[in-house]
Amino acid sequence: MSILISPSILSADFAKLESEIRDVERCGADWLHLDVMDGVFVPNLTFGPVIVDAVNRLSDLPLDVHLMIVDPARYVDRFVKAGADWITFHIEAEKDVEGTIELIRSHGAKAGISVSPPTPIELIEPYLTRIDLVLVMSVNPGFSGQKFMPEVLPKVRWLVEMRKKTGAHYLISIDGGINDRTAPMAVDAGVDVLVSASYIFGSADRCEAIRKLASLK
Ligand code: DX5
Ligand code: ZN
Repeated sequence: MSILISPSILSADFAKLESEIRDVERCGADWLHLDVMDGVFVPNLTFGPVIVDAVNRLSDLPLDVHLMIVDPARYVDRFVKAGADWITFHIEAEKDVEGTIELIRSHGAKAGISVSPPTPIELIEPYLTRIDLVLVMSVNPGFSGQKFMPEVLPKVRWLVEMRKKTGAHYLISIDGGINDRTAPMAVDAGVDVLVSASYIFGSADRCEAIRKLASLK
C-alpha cells in the first residue's frame, strides 16, 4: 500500500479555503485532515461542524476529523452529519473509549484513537481490534508548526508489531512536525498516513511537497 497524505487545513488560508483545498486536491492529497480544538483539551480554538460541513461541500476527498476536545462522544453525531468520514478522538479525553468507538462506527464513520506524546501507547491495547485508525501525535496537540518528536517512533513500531500479532486492521497515522526530513523516519517506523499542515501549506510548491511525502514508500 502506498503512503496516504492527509494535509491539515489548519495551515491553509481560511479566507480562500476553496482554492486552498483545490490546490492540495490537484496535487494528489488523499484525505483532508481537520483539526477540531475546543480551548479546553488543548490551549487553542479552531472550528467545529460548520466548517467540516463547508469543507465537505467543497471536496470529495475523505474527511479525516481529529477531535482535540473534551467529551468527544457528545459531538460524534454532529460531525458525522457534517460529513466526517474518519473521526479520531483522544484517549486522554474520553472515559468511555469503547462506547465512543461503537458510537462512531454505528453512525457509519471510521473510528480512530489518538495518543498525545506523554501517553503510553499500551493504553490502547484493549481496543486494537475494534478501531480503524491510530493517530500517533508527534507534537503536543494544539498548534501547527511545532518540532517533530522522534521519541514517539517506538509507538509506531509497537503498533506495527501488535497489528501483526492480533490480526487487527487499523491504519497508523502520524501528526505533528511532518516534513521531507522527518517523514522518512516515520515511514521507516511503519506509518500508513502522514498528516502535515505547515510543511504542505507553507511550501511555495505544494505539489512538490506532497510528491516528496507520497514517494516515501
Ligand atoms: C496539532 C494538529 C496537527 C497540526 C499539524 O495539534 O493536530 O494536525 O495541524 O501541523 P504541522 O504539520 O505544522 O506540525
Ligand atoms: Zn491533527
